[in-house]
Amino acid sequence: MSATDLTGKDYFTDLSLLLDPYEYFRQMYARGPVSPMGSADSLLVTGFAEAVEVLRNNRDFSSAIATTGAGQPLTFVPEGPDISTQLDAFYEQLGPMNLLVNYDGMPHARLRAIASQLFTPTRLKATHDFMHEFAAQLVRESVQKGGCEIVNEIATPFVTLVVAEILGVPPGDREKFRAVIDAAPPPGNMNRDDAREDSEPQMSPLEYMGLFFFEYLSDRRDNPRDDLLTQLALATYPDGELPDLLEMVKLSGFLFGAGQDTSAKLISNAMRRIAEDPVLQEQLRADYTLIPPMLEEVLRLEGSTKATWRIARRDTKIGDMEIPAGTRLTVALAAANRDPRRWENPEEFRIGRPRIQEHLGFGRGVHTCAGAPLARLEVAAILRHFLEQTTQISLNAEKHGPPGNRKLEYEPSYIIRGLANLHLELRA
Ligand code: HEM
Repeated sequence: MSATDLTGKDYFTDLSLLLDPYEYFRQMYARGPVSPMGSADSLLVTGFAEAVEVLRNNRDFSSAIATTGAGQPLTFVPEGPDISTQLDAFYEQLGPMNLLVNYDGMPHARLRAIASQLFTPTRLKATHDFMHEFAAQLVRESVQKGGCEIVNEIATPFVTLVVAEILGVPPGDREKFRAVIDAAPPPGNMNRDDAREDSEPQMSPLEYMGLFFFEYLSDRRDNPRDDLLTQLALATYPDGELPDLLEMVKLSGFLFGAGQDTSAKLISNAMRRIAEDPVLQEQLRADYTLIPPMLEEVLRLEGSTKATWRIARRDTKIGDMEIPAGTRLTVALAAANRDPRRWENPEEFRIGRPRIQEHLGFGRGVHTCAGAPLARLEVAAILRHFLEQTTQISLNAEKHGPPGNRKLEYEPSYIIRGLANLHLELRA
């Protein structure tokens, strides 16, 4: 029996694609590594080489829509072979928060130079003890109870606290941030019903946190400490100029937010695989040095960011394919990571694939994830404590059904690939 044709589905709103977005991507790939999405005004890039080409060509492809996607019509009609002037005029509408990830050219390079200096090996080493003690404690409590729901009880508070600690957010404010992030729809929300009523303007988590970050950074400029907020408050652009405080406020808030869902969902994506595969579990328990290469394979096969977006700034090409200015591209990182032209038996989970670090789980090019070193460390730390403190980890069959017929619920997001919850049974 042939599989249902999914190619006409709306990737941005169709919740039926959440369980297995990979099947949708496979069918679209069969139409070509760059092909029209039919349901949305965007090309879908599913080929590995093509995705790398787009992500590397930041001269012709703008990141203005990197997080907003292509689910809504453009608010202007692209005109002529170069739409740079139109992009400038509509920038705020294209990526309303106007963050590092949406910047192009020199504004991006200057700010990225600052962001790139944050998660240095020395800084990460300094948080090593804190991260491990906290992870050990969270896992200990779960093992004592015989189980946990890892997404909301463990992964999310863990990554929030780690990034808060490394930035230097005061303990009293951390819960407030977590609460506004939890209350807001996920990034790339597919539930249009959750869209905010225009008559009731609410603050987004970034706006809310911005008020706090403004205070912290102003304070750090006068009273420096040994934390990332101080580094951000005193940072200068490569040409020596002191950035506008508002720019640093936005960057701090974005750093706090960017690593929340992404890292927490990576923990649970990895844990689902570990819990479902006793052989893998034993392999990892016998040799903890396999955790980092295992994580890279999880990032390839089930990374927590499914896609990112670009818009052609000028007439350009991908390979021989002509791309007119104004074309929007959905760069499906999750599809490129399973492109059979690049990966041998792509659907197979294999630790130690050659050149695995070339996967696109953290993107590629100038916008490659600035927090990847932190994400890799924190996710590996919590997984290690789970493996160390247990002899068996399995999925809770009462909550998820029996093996072979599991029921799993994924976040309604066109960006994030991640479970809404994952109930585990833990045996000491
Ligand atoms: C497993 C966890 C994570 C995943 C899968 C992930 C994924 C990504 C991806 C795919 C991009 C590129 C977006 C694009 O090209 O348009 C990105 C950018 C970024 N990420 Fe992450 N991320 C993770 C964790 C983090 C953490 C922990 C932080 C910071 C604390 C962070 C901060 C950033 C920043 C600042 C950018 C923008 C870089 C730029 O535009 O120059 N991320 N991330």
